[in-house]
Amino acid sequence: MINRKNWGELMLLVTGGTGMSGAAVIREFARRGIPVRALVRSDDKARALAAMPTVEPVVGDMLRPETLRAALQDVHRVLMISSPRERMVDTQCTFIDAAKAAGVPHIVKFSGKESGVGFDAEVFRGTRQHGQIEQHLERSGLAWTHLRPSQFMQFYLPGTLTGVDADERALVLPAGASRLAPVDIEDIAKVCVALMTGEGHEGRSYDMTGPEALTMHEVVERITAATGVPHRYREVSPEEYRRRLTAAGHPQGTVDLLDELFAERRRRPDSELRLGAHRRFGVEPTTLAQFATRNAAAFLTPALAA
Ligand SMILES: NC(=O)c1ccc[n+]([C@@H]2O[C@H](COP(=O)([O-])OP(=O)(O)OC[C@H]3O[C@@H](n4cnc5c(N)ncnc54)[C@H](OP(=O)(O)O)[C@@H]3O)[C@@H](O)[C@H]2O)c1
Repeated sequence: MINRKNWGELMLLVTGGTGMSGAAVIREFARRGIPVRALVRSDDKARALAAMPTVEPVVGDMLRPETLRAALQDVHRVLMISSPRERMVDTQCTFIDAAKAAGVPHIVKFSGKESGVGFDAEVFRGTRQHGQIEQHLERSGLAWTHLRPSQFMQFYLPGTLTGVDADERALVLPAGASRLAPVDIEDIAKVCVALMTGEGHEGRSYDMTGPEALTMHEVVERITAATGVPHRYREVSPEEYRRRLTAAGHPQGTVDLLDELFAERRRRPDSELRLGAHRRFGVEPTTLAQFATRNAAAFLTPALAA
């Protein structure tokens, strides 16, 4: 039985804890010995998380409020994460309504914001959908906090949608001369735990980027230095990129999503740095060189990429 009294009385729930960013958040809670409940969609996933002693997995589906009663019971604060590829607006808005009905007072929304200066959040469906969910949450009457990280550094790892092509040892993207300021998910996870366990974050938004704005050439330079194996950037046209994604079996919706994203990144090639959340919560911003060094094996052996 998890002893919440040793730490405090707050009952904290994280959704999406089996995904890329949510898993890092759950690991950070566990590393610090802070009790947390995690919503998962299957018994198998519950068993995997239950191996961490301070994590209490509960099965439910954010799209099916009738399955959420046990997960939402007595919860004081939720960190809400779900997949950008699975009906994100429906999923999160349904969950917000269910949380409100269950009496949850406060939701921290894991949102997103591109680092590009002047990037139009409305033209890229990912950021547009986050905006719609933020508005729904603000209108719900619940206390809210928005955490808006920029592009994850993890999306340069082989095996991810926009990562290094392991056969070519190249980033093959239609990125033009754009500079991005990606952020390490491990940094975001530390800020998530601070927002979930601290007080006074209601009605506030926290934007996060990494500490440098880098061209794709600068990104592969750092991967090369960290791995000792030459990597390069190969610019492709938007049409060729669409063909590559389609040939790799990605659904039309994903192809369109990335097309929109890179078109707007090319149009807004400069990035700004937003390190206020790092500073406020005492998190040292991870550089891409540090990230690549930590993940050198995963860059060279795609099976290890998370
Ligand atoms: N990619 C980026 O660079 C970036 C940057 C900033 C913000 N973001 C945002 O970060 C968020 C998380 O992204 P991610 O890549 O970490 O996601 P992910 O790896 O796809 O993980 C999604 C998680 O949500 C869970 N989930 C999805 N639908 C659910 C439902 N109906 N009920 C319960 N759980 C459900 C999944 O559970 P299962 O394990 O059961 O599938 C999984 O744990 C997204 O909103 C994304 O837009 C992304």
